[in-house]
Amino acid sequence: MNKPIKKIAVLTSGCDAPGMNAAIRSVVRSCAHYSINCVGINRGYSGLIAGDFTPLSARSVKNLIGKGGTMLKSSHCDDFKTISGREKAFEQLKKEAIDGLIIIGGDGTLKGGLDFFEQFNFPVNAIPATIDNNVAGTDKTIGFDSALNTVIDAIDKIRDTANAHNRIFFIEVMGEDAGFIALNAGIGGGAEEILIPETNTSVTELVKSLKKSKDKGNNSSIVVVAEGDKTGSNVFELAKEVNKIFPEDDMKVSVLGHIQRGGAPSCYDRVLASRMGLAAVEAMLDKQKGIMVGIQNNKMVRVSIKDAVKSKNLIDKELLKVAEISSF
Ligand code: F6P
Repeated sequence: MNKPIKKIAVLTSGCDAPGMNAAIRSVVRSCAHYSINCVGINRGYSGLIAGDFTPLSARSVKNLIGKGGTMLKSSHCDDFKTISGREKAFEQLKKEAIDGLIIIGGDGTLKGGLDFFEQFNFPVNAIPATIDNNVAGTDKTIGFDSALNTVIDAIDKIRDTANAHNRIFFIEVMGEDAGFIALNAGIGGGAEEILIPETNTSVTELVKSLKKSKDKGNNSSIVVVAEGDKTGSNVFELAKEVNKIFPEDDMKVSVLGHIQRGGAPSCYDRVLASRMGLAAVEAMLDKQKGIMVGIQNNKMVRVSIKDAVKSKNLIDKELLKVAEISSF
């Protein structure tokens, strides 16, 4: 028989994403609404193993919705990948009389949560949060939209200086092994070329497309490169290689890096996080365990964490077509 849920713990783990705080706030306030105790676990799975708990009340998350980062901090925890590490974590949850755990993070966090759930049959539910948007079972992850807005802002600014000096800019964006940030921000920023791991563009194709753009009278270009793309061995080498073919052109590289992870979450991410926090608590109360809440066609859904980690979110072919046609 499943124990009634009286106390829920929440943690953020892995890479932070804008909107994690909004998700914590929503979990805490949803628990308050249903008269459930809520505790935060600091530093993700590392803090869980160490028993680093902090009580959270509805008031303790006041003014949190618009803050970047995560008030509970985060970590990458190798110990939690081991059976004995997870046993220590289980003991800490028992000691604190916690009945359910809500985890907020990306694919690594979900895998850890699944292993824990399968080892102890302990109620674990997940909220997908990563700027990469590479989690299956949800159309969007928390943080993706905010990161896109940061990238778009950077591209617009770089476009001004690229135009002023007739330069070709290679802008590297994050996304791990996925091209969601690059493709969406590339379209939104009007990039002349977008390189993502999913499409395997060759240097020859890139050169051809830049040549076409020059022939049409474009004196400056933006090439958005996903960090996981393999067209060059890295973005600097790629720029050098292209520069050999167009020696008369001035080429610059800009790696946007961790600015994509920081800053205030967008309104979309705040709303998404608020919806997912409530959905995760309600799923727990419905005795659903081992599930991830997601958004599909703008509706909250419950999918098993097992299914979510089994595959990856796929790039939308229609968006590839839009990118190609609109950069003409
Ligand atoms: O998963 C989010 C992400 O920002 C990726 O886009 C990137 O590859 C990675 O994390 C960077 O991780 P770290 O902050 O540990 O260097």
